[in-house]
Amino acid sequence: MENKKIVVGNMKMNLTASEIDNYIKEIDKYDYNEQVVFCPSYIYLPSFVGKGYRCGAQNIASYELGAYTGEVSARQVSSMKIDYTIIGHSERRNYFNETDEIIRTKITLALKENLKVILCIGETLEQRDALKTYEVLKRQLTSALKGLDKFQGIIIAYEPIWAIGTGKTPTNQDIEDTISFIKKIINDICGQELKVLYGGSVNDENITKLNTIKNVDGYLVGGACTSAERFNKIIEVVVNQ
Ligand code: 13P
Repeated sequence: MENKKIVVGNMKMNLTASEIDNYIKEIDKYDYNEQVVFCPSYIYLPSFVGKGYRCGAQNIASYELGAYTGEVSARQVSSMKIDYTIIGHSERRNYFNETDEIIRTKITLALKENLKVILCIGETLEQRDALKTYEVLKRQLTSALKGLDKFQGIIIAYEPIWAIGTGKTPTNQDIEDTISFIKKIINDICGQELKVLYGGSVNDENITKLNTIKNVDGYLVGGACTSAERFNKIIEVVVNQ
């Protein structure tokens, strides 16, 4: 597993109960292994876990437990045999005002419960155009990771915000250069190597080309994972290439 790529499906707030039933019937035809992680909405997680699929929450609360109506804690997620949680997705940073500080708190809470963390980082188009991509990524990584006493179990997902849901992706060379930079910063911060995934408009048509990038450790897939058929095509490329 250590050197194998992983493919994470972030289903976001998509699919109804009956659509999830059909989705699971479809994926049951294939033989997925530990390289594949499904992140449906909380309410559907037990359906995936019950079938033995590796799962992740899309978010966790920034509080440990108690009177926080509507929230789900790291401990609750972990107690459901869920292995991963996404933290700091740009949609949470933008629409739910998650600051670097909140993200750091969530990482600490997740690691305490032995959840693996998929930490999302990425720049806006304005930041990219202003040549601030590396500065932004360094700030996001430093504020999230610096001073943590444990790094094992953290995976970084590089998701340029302008590539999410737009059908646009950076060039392979761009992604490779940015991932090299991210890996160097991680090494500076914690002296360790962490997996770095790419996310942003990954689909069944561009995966073969994306998957030739040398230093990428896997993919975080949004829209294309909500179709079992398309997601399966992506997985086949990554697992077999
Ligand atoms: P898309 O694959 O739909 O661009 O979404 C990427 C994403 O945000 C995954 O977390």
